[in-house]
Amino acid sequence: MLVRLLYASHSPKAIESEVIESILAQSRRHNPELGITGILCQGGDVYLQVLEGGRRAVNELYNRIVQDQRHREVALLHFEEVTERRFAGWTMGQVNLAKVNASLLLKYCETPALDPYAMSGRAAMALLEELIATAQIVGRAG
Ligand SMILES: Cc1cc2nc3c(=O)[nH]c(=O)nc-3n(C[C@H](O)[C@H](O)[C@H](O)COP(=O)(O)O)c2cc1C
Repeated sequence: MLVRLLYASHSPKAIESEVIESILAQSRRHNPELGITGILCQGGDVYLQVLEGGRRAVNELYNRIVQDQRHREVALLHFEEVTERRFAGWTMGQVNLAKVNASLLLKYCETPALDPYAMSGRAAMALLEELIATAQIVGRAG
């Protein structure tokens, strides 16, 4: 059984590229064997991540991620059982929201600076789907 989980969190300071590289390296190391796919967006000090996979695998990884000291105030935005993956092509795709067109962010957010805590889970998922449609996700399948 497949599930999709979306959460937001933020870093105590501006997110540095070394931190992203290290998270992506860990994702590449673990996600393929766990059957996890998804995308990780970061912008300013916020993270927005989708995890897809088996219910047990997604729950276990999410619980591990919540305890990670590199971010805090992890907020679950959306969780659903799904019949198919949307992010099957990405072991953990990556999007730097600073490089995303401000008008796309404004379409779904109150301001062009992403504040996922102020977004509905549905709007956040719609934004991520548009990032796929407009090929703004970096990364590769595992
Ligand atoms: C925002 C964020 C997203 C993360 N995403 C993943 C992920 O998709 N897969 C993963 O294995 N670890 C992820 N991590 C890292 C885990 O919290 C944990 O540090 C890592 O899985 C431990 O791997 P290691 O035992 O190989 O060091 C993420 C961490 C953060 C802060």
